[in-house]
Amino acid sequence: MSEKVYPVPASWKKTAYVDDAGYKKMYAESIKDPAKFWGKHAKRLDWFKVPKKVKNTTYAYPKVSIKWYEDGVLNVSYNCIDRHLKKRGDQVAIIWEGDDPYYDKKITYNELYEHVCRFANVLKKNGVKKGDCVTIYLPMIPEAAYAMLACARIGAVHSIVFGGFSPDSLASRINDANSKLIITADEGMRGGRKVPLKANCDDALKRCAGNEKVVVVRRTGGAVTMIPGRDLWYHDEAASVPADCKPEKMKAEDPLFILYTSGSTGKPKGVLHTTGGYLVYASMTHQYVFDYHDGDIYWCTADVGWVTGHSYIVYGPLANGATTLMFEGVPNYPTNSRFWEVIDKHKVNIFYTAPTAIRALMGAGEGAVAKTSRKSLRLLGSVGEPINPEAWEWYHRVVGDERCPIVDTWWQTETGGILITPLPGATKLKPGSATRPFFGIQPALVDDKGVILEGDTSGNLVILDSWPGQMRTVFGDHDRFVQTYFSTYKGMYFTGDGCRRDKDGYYWITGRVDDVINVSGHRLGTAEVESALVAHPKVSEAAVVGYPHDIKGQGIYCYVTLMAGEEGDDELRKDLVAHVRKEIGPLATPDKIQFAPGLPKTRSGKIMRRILRKIAEDDFAALGDTSTLADPSVVDDLIEKRQNKR
Ligand code: WT7
Repeated sequence: MSEKVYPVPASWKKTAYVDDAGYKKMYAESIKDPAKFWGKHAKRLDWFKVPKKVKNTTYAYPKVSIKWYEDGVLNVSYNCIDRHLKKRGDQVAIIWEGDDPYYDKKITYNELYEHVCRFANVLKKNGVKKGDCVTIYLPMIPEAAYAMLACARIGAVHSIVFGGFSPDSLASRINDANSKLIITADEGMRGGRKVPLKANCDDALKRCAGNEKVVVVRRTGGAVTMIPGRDLWYHDEAASVPADCKPEKMKAEDPLFILYTSGSTGKPKGVLHTTGGYLVYASMTHQYVFDYHDGDIYWCTADVGWVTGHSYIVYGPLANGATTLMFEGVPNYPTNSRFWEVIDKHKVNIFYTAPTAIRALMGAGEGAVAKTSRKSLRLLGSVGEPINPEAWEWYHRVVGDERCPIVDTWWQTETGGILITPLPGATKLKPGSATRPFFGIQPALVDDKGVILEGDTSGNLVILDSWPGQMRTVFGDHDRFVQTYFSTYKGMYFTGDGCRRDKDGYYWITGRVDDVINVSGHRLGTAEVESALVAHPKVSEAAVVGYPHDIKGQGIYCYVTLMAGEEGDDELRKDLVAHVRKEIGPLATPDKIQFAPGLPKTRSGKIMRRILRKIAEDDFAALGDTSTLADPSVVDDLIEKRQNKR
C-alpha cells in the first residue's frame, strides 16, 4: 500500500464548497440528526409538496423498509429541466461527442425541454402510463437522456439495458420488468464499428410476450427490419406530437428506475430506485464530490447503461443545472489520445472515468497524453473498481500534470450515489484509498460473525444506517432484497466488499468477498457465466472465478468439465467463448478456459472456489486446507494442467 499523502492544493482551499473543518462539521451534523440534515438538504430540489416526514427506515431483519421524504411530491424531469429554464434556458445542458471526432452536438436546456416533452408525448401516445416500465436499449446518444427524462416526466419507470448485452439478456430483462415498450436505435457506433441494436432487439422479442411495441431512433441509417404495427420510427412519431408535456406529480417513493445488476447467485436482480431520495442524493453528491460550480464543463465517461451514467451523466448533473458531456465512443478510437483531445476540444474541467481505461491508456504510453494540453482540467475522478496506486500516480502526474486532485469514489448500483470518497477541497489523498464517508454515511467493518471491528483493521464492509439514495427493493422480489443485503449481518447493509481501514480512518476497498467479479468495471456474477457454460451441449459442469488482470482488473477464468467422451481442444474453447458471448453478451467474454475432468468439491458437493481462485492466480502455495475435499487428488491434476497451460 502506498504511504504517500497528497495535501489539498492551496488553490482549492479558496473555491471549494467545504474544507476539512467544514467536512467534519457537516459530517457530524449528518450523523447526529439525519432527519434534520436530510430535511435541510431536500431543499436543493423543487417540490410540488415539500416533505415533512424525512426519514422512515429500518434495517431490522426481516422487516427491512426504507422510505425517505414519503409525503413529498415532485417530478425528476421538472427538477432536471423546467426549473432551470428561466435562468439558463440558453446554457448548454448536454455536449454530445460522437464516436467520429468530427461529429458533435450541443443541446441547451431550452432544447432539452422540447426534446424531452416530445419524447414523453410519444410514449403517452403509444400507451405508456404512470407506473409502466419502459426498457431502453440505446447507444450513447442524446436520445438516451431524452428517453430517461421522458419516462420520469410521465411517471413511467425506465429499465436501461447496456448495449453490450445479448438478445437473451435483453429478453430476460424485458420479461422480468414486464415492459410493453422498448426504445432502441437502428445501430450504435463504437470505435468505428456498428452495433446491431435493432436486430438484437428483434431477436430478443422472439422470447417475449409478443404484445410489445418498439420505438426506433435512427442513428446510423443502416438497414433494419420494421414490423408494421409493432415498430415505429421515433422521428415520425415525434413530428406528430406537441412540444409541451406537463410533468406528472410523483410521490417521493414512486419508482424512478430499475437497473439490473449481477449478484453472487441467480439471475441479475432489478435494483429499484425511487424519486425523491435518489435525486437529492445524486445531485448533492455530484455537487460536493466534483465540487461542481456554475459554468464548469463536466464529463463522466460511463455508459448510461450503468448506474454511473444514470446518476452522474444524467440525473445528478442536470438536477444541478450543469453542462454534462456525453461521449458515444471509446478511449482508443481513432487514437489513444481521444479522451485528452475531447477534453481540449470542449474545455472539460472535471473528468470522471474508470481505472480500467486509465490502465489501458497507461499502456499506450505518455506521448499520447503529452501531445494534448488538458489545461482546462481541474479535477479527476475514478470509479468502478479499486484503482491501483501505480495507475493513480500516472493519472495524477501524466493526465492531471500534478495539479488536479483525484476523487476515488466508491459506491454501487444499489447505493444510487457515491458513499465513500474524498471531497477535493477537504480531503488529503492517498493513492488507492477512497478515503472517507460522504455525509450521512456510516461505514463499518465487521468480522465473519458480524462483530464490528474498531481502528486500524480489515473486514467486511457494511453500512449501519440508510441514506436517501439507497435502493428500496429488488423489483418484484422484496424477500430477495432482504436476504441479499440484510441477512448476512443482521441490522446492517452488507456491501459484498472487503475493506481495510487505516490509522487515519481512511477506507481502502479491497474488492468483492462474494462470487461477484468486476471485469473492466463491469459487474458479473460467476454463477451467470457458469450457467451460460453449462447450457452448452458438451459441458457437464463449470466453475468460474476472477483472476488478476493487468488492464481489466479481473479476468474471467473458467474451469469446464465436459460430457463423457468429449475432447477439450482449442476448437471447443473458441466455441465456448462464442457461446458465452451469445448467451450473456461480449462483456462476459471468458479470458481463460481450463478443461477439468474433476472440480474440487466438499463431501456435500459444494465446489470450493477458494481453491480454484488460488489456482487461477498461480498461487499454489496458498491453497489452504484441502483435506475436507471429497477427492483431494483433483487439485493436483488442476495444478498440473494449469502449469502445463493445457
Ligand atoms: C462494485 C459495484 C460504482 C458505480 C459503478 C459500479 C466496486 C466501485 C469502487 C472504487 C473500489 C469499487 C466494488 C463495488 N467498486 N467503485 N472506487 N474502489 N471498488 O457499480 O457495477 O454496482 O459495482 O464495484 O466492488 O461493490 P456496480
